[in-house]
Amino acid sequence: MSASLTVTAADKAGRYRELLPQLAALIGSDTDAIAVMANVSAALKEAFGWHWVGFYRVEGDTLVLGPFQGPVACTRIPHGRGVCGSAWARNETLVVADVDAFPGHIACSSLSRSEIVVPLTDCAGRVAAVLDIDSVHLADFDDTDRASLEALIPLFAPCLSAQG
Ligand code: SME
Repeated sequence: MSASLTVTAADKAGRYRELLPQLAALIGSDTDAIAVMANVSAALKEAFGWHWVGFYRVEGDTLVLGPFQGPVACTRIPHGRGVCGSAWARNETLVVADVDAFPGHIACSSLSRSEIVVPLTDCAGRVAAVLDIDSVHLADFDDTDRASLEALIPLFAPCLSAQG
């Protein structure tokens, strides 16, 4: 089976448009959350070159590091803490233009300047994981990223369980 991506558009919206169907085909009907998170992390990193792309999974009252691409990262994040824990607590996507201006931001990497965190919910609507992306540039994420990443989630997590 061939497993490569072709993303050539110069603009961000175009790159998402090219990437989404390829990701859907790559994932197919596989339901192994770890395998899918690993490939989604790799695909987003390859397509956009961001500093860090990865997942944290809900385990009890903590987010635990899951599959990712980029430098080593914090292993555990408490509920409500940092951008990830806040997105989990609010069950909504958070776009942070300047991480230094976000109260309680957890600086896993001193190079991160902006961040987007998208919650993934289980069938009951509870957050089971978050997708976290960090950029070395200020204000690198906008409504195009929010809408495109939120559209991507159901492709691979139609019914994600808290246990992964
Ligand atoms: N900055 C995140 C922590 C995770 S790392 O960015 C990979 C936060 O504030 O939750």
